[in-house]
Amino acid sequence: MDNFTQVGEKVVITFGTFDVFHVGHLRILERAASYGNRLIVGISTDQLNINKKGRPPVYHQDERMEIVAALRCVDDVFFEESLELKGQYITDKAADVLVMGDDWQGKFDDYSNLCEVVYLTRTPSISTTEVIEKIRL
Ligand code: CTP
Repeated sequence: MDNFTQVGEKVVITFGTFDVFHVGHLRILERAASYGNRLIVGISTDQLNINKKGRPPVYHQDERMEIVAALRCVDDVFFEESLELKGQYITDKAADVLVMGDDWQGKFDDYSNLCEVVYLTRTPSISTTEVIEKIRL
């Protein structure tokens, strides 16, 4: 449990890059928050994105974190350094629910021994990749 979580609170955790912040990001965070009374967001580090996608995000991790932390529906943020540490983060943050977009459908079912696992439908027709492409054109 982190220092700010109170006994009896239902803690929700989610993860993402949240680069070039868009409405799909906002909607999943607002919906994730509705599954409990405290939302904690793991922001993937620049290095994790380089390892995963072969390029750094447009916005530096500190800026991505600052934007997500400023949202009304978000209570706490931390850096996700490694995909393999998800179970550890869930335990450390005493999360009751893990929320992920359905692009990850089924991929995190193994964590259901630690917490409830919920996949939410993505907002159609928008992604960071598409926004970057649109700006490039
Ligand atoms: N998400 C969503 N709806 C979208 C885009 C993203 O619900 N249209 C969710 C993802 O499912 C994930 C979270 O937002 O749970 C963070 O996604 P992220 O990978 O950071 O954003 P994408 O826009 O999917 O980025 P990319 O195009 O680089 O994959």
